[in-house]
Amino acid sequence: MDQPRKAGNSPILVEMNARETRYWCACGKSASQPFCDGSHKGTTDIIPVLFTVEESGTKALCNCKQTKTPPYCDGSHLTAD
Ligand code: FES
Repeated sequence: MDQPRKAGNSPILVEMNARETRYWCACGKSASQPFCDGSHKGTTDIIPVLFTVEESGTKALCNCKQTKTPPYCDGSHLTAD
């Protein structure tokens, strides 16, 4: 399996609305971080993660692509290479 590309060294804070559904970029190649722009197609076997927000508010979405709780930052960027 391909390894994700680090898109950044810290999470991206995004305002989202309740019941909003998006695709989080898991491969790190999207130019629209932290969301998928289709760049994974034909370039990696990593697929985006579809998620729905339950409550409106600011969400810390992983941008290092090492989180164990995608799409949300779990602090893994603090120890990622
Ligand atoms: S940005 Fe990836 S775990 Fe924090």
